Amino acid sequence: MVDARRYHERTKHTPESVRTDSFSLDFENKPRPYKQYKHLPTVTLEEPQRSINDPALAAISTFPRRDLDSAETSIDRHALQTLCHYATGVTKTLEKQGHQMRFRAAACTGKLYHIDLYAVTGDISGLDAGVYHFDPETESFDVLRRGDYRGVLATATADYSAVATAPVTFVATSQWWRNAWKYRNRTYRHAFWDSGTILANLLAVAAGLGYESTVVTGFMDDPVTHLLGLDPTDEAPLELIPVGTGSPVPEAPAVEQISPDETPLSDHVVEYPLVADAWRQSTLENEMAVRSWRDQVGDAADDAFGVHDQGDGRQVPVDPVDDETASGRPITNTIERRGSLREYSPDAISDRKFATVLDRALGGILTEWGEERPRLVDYYCLVHAVDGIPSGVYQYHPAENVLEHLGETSRRAAGHLALDQSVVGDAAVNLYTMADIDAIVEQVGNRGYRLAQLVGGIALGRLYLATYAHRALGGRGFTFYDGLVTEHLSPRASNQTPMTLFAFGKPAC
Ligand SMILES: Cc1cc2nc3c(=O)[nH]c(=O)nc-3n(C[C@H](O)[C@H](O)[C@H](O)COP(=O)(O)O)c2cc1C
Repeated sequence: MVDARRYHERTKHTPESVRTDSFSLDFENKPRPYKQYKHLPTVTLEEPQRSINDPALAAISTFPRRDLDSAETSIDRHALQTLCHYATGVTKTLEKQGHQMRFRAAACTGKLYHIDLYAVTGDISGLDAGVYHFDPETESFDVLRRGDYRGVLATATADYSAVATAPVTFVATSQWWRNAWKYRNRTYRHAFWDSGTILANLLAVAAGLGYESTVVTGFMDDPVTHLLGLDPTDEAPLELIPVGTGSPVPEAPAVEQISPDETPLSDHVVEYPLVADAWRQSTLENEMAVRSWRDQVGDAADDAFGVHDQGDGRQVPVDPVDDETASGRPITNTIERRGSLREYSPDAISDRKFATVLDRALGGILTEWGEERPRLVDYYCLVHAVDGIPSGVYQYHPAENVLEHLGETSRRAAGHLALDQSVVGDAAVNLYTMADIDAIVEQVGNRGYRLAQLVGGIALGRLYLATYAHRALGGRGFTFYDGLVTEHLSPRASNQTPMTLFAFGKPAC
């Protein structure tokens, strides 16, 4: 039985833990990055909608509202497929040393793609009500159940309104082994990082299509697991994302047990029980637990999660450009051209672009608590090369659009912090999302850890989109030595530990 704080401690990287680790990858036993059911019927899909003209920078930072006339309510099969494709579909195939390498819409640790999306729908135009698994390999839906099961999700969320009226709710899951093959016990962290980048895309494309969508973290896990026919020691639900609005969903029907056969992912599965255990220790068992999770997070005092308001460091205002002046690259095109930048130019980036990336990527996301709360994380920048901003460590305060100077840094130190990946120091900026895990778990329990990691993952996904919306910017997510990062950002961040890291700048020519 592992507490989230203990899990986090046990899975930290240190220079010593990395140096003394004798683990080596077993390429013969590498899992497939796709789930394959053996006997399920499928629904083949047509082409996704390739061009959504909404600029990416607007799509990642706006929330169509159900009370706005413009909010789309109906959803059809084509829109559903477009959402799936740009969240987790294959967007690029490159040939490297004679091998075809397929890249997905969202970044994923180790390119292992362990996150899947399921759609639980009512009758929508072109598709009967059902429970579907999106298969990115064939761009089709596997049919898990026929019939309207949305009521199961409504009940699982204690009738949370967005789920109780949505024409479709997506469930994101992690099939642990697909990531644990390389990352072992760290897979539980990666589940939230990697679902976060997918959710960033999903929310942005939903906004581009005019749909309201919300990230829902409070639900009874077991009924959702049961609905999808999962065994949580193998694959478990992480988040629900209702998209669109409609009339109240019908009452939940009886849910028979299913356990559809799958083609094995690899020769054998190596068990890392800590992962499923950490997940299990953060589950919500009944309606009361769901309501109390929602209340506890919603009612927490502003400073309950150990975040920091502006202190007395020197202030550097940052000045994002307005929507008319900002890059107008459409969201779908931005996702298609996104790809982790391999090499950075050491040149400085424009201060206005820097400000615009931070402003659009790090505003609120729509959750059960609205878009401003809960404030679980702080953002810190290591600035190496931005026009007019001296190199240094800064805390970024999104509400005020101000950088607060905290100390000195160097490109060399930055590379060291990031698991000695010197390329990180070549970037113009390194952005760390930091959270006080002790305070969060103390306040709201182990589920708070999921949420903090997820907020870090969504920030990473939106940062990818905000940089690739610009012509001459690119970036990549990175991993780090947890304790060294805290030290580098202290004393301000001495109570916080890193969730995610994104390094961005100009591509090397
Ligand atoms: C949370 C996260 C952490 C990552 N950490 C590293 C890293 O430490 N080093 C690295 O080279 N790439 C890292 N990556 C980049 C992935 O390897 C990359 O996303 C994956 O290979 C897919 O390629 P693409 O982003 O170009 O689609 C990370 C990505 C994510 C989402």
